[in-house]
Amino acid sequence: MKEFKHNSASQTVLSELMVPSYANFGGRVHGGTILSMMDKVAYACATKHAGNYCVTASVETVDFLTPVEIGDQLSLYASVNYVGNTSLVVGIKVVSENLKLGTVTHTNKSYFTMVAIDEDKKPAQVPGLILRNHEDVRRFSEAKKRKEINKYVKQQFIDFTNNMDLLSEIDNLQNDNCKIEID
Ligand SMILES: CC(C)(COP(=O)(O)OP(=O)(O)OC[C@H]1O[C@@H](n2cnc3c(N)ncnc32)[C@H](O)[C@@H]1OP(=O)(O)O)[C@@H](O)C(=O)NCCC(=O)NCCS
Repeated sequence: MKEFKHNSASQTVLSELMVPSYANFGGRVHGGTILSMMDKVAYACATKHAGNYCVTASVETVDFLTPVEIGDQLSLYASVNYVGNTSLVVGIKVVSENLKLGTVTHTNKSYFTMVAIDEDKKPAQVPGLILRNHEDVRRFSEAKKRKEINKYVKQQFIDFTNNMDLLSEIDNLQNDNCKIEID
């Protein structure tokens, strides 16, 4: 019989203190550190839902809304928003807390598509998702729509690159911040 699970069974929180070794050249937390933590929390959340090892297939744009300061406590909240057959979309919200002031800032969010992998390293069926309230339905439908839009945009880009006429492109770039120096 097909298995279904609610996202509450796999929601995951990862919290870590931002120590000085995480600093970038500007003295704030390196974006790569945050991306690595996002990948870890997405893995844990997806694997709990799937009951199988999961790999990262794609990452939706990550916008860094505000910098994260050294000394802050960073917390990442991950929840399964959508499942397909073998893939899952994990929504991740990142907040940083200034421990002295007690202020909490939403620093970024993203959506990671993870794929469950079986013992033979092939994509494996994942349990369906139980939607218990309007919020669950909104997240599921938004993720489904994003998937459709991404597929459409990918196809548009493939068509563009396949049909690109470089001479017309040179004309199109006249107002861009580039200088064409082709002999
Ligand atoms: C992700 C991966 C397992 C997909 O394998 P595949 O043979 O292409 O599998 P399929 O074409 O059968 O697709 C399986 C599922 O993944 C989804 N998928 C595959 N590539 C995807 C991508 N780039 N973005 C989003 N979803 C993707 C498919 O939509 C499908 O979902 P569904 O079963 O829910 O409909 C494979 O590409 C892989 O191993 N990639 C490397 C993963 C990795 O190493 N990640 C760490 C980052 S370095």
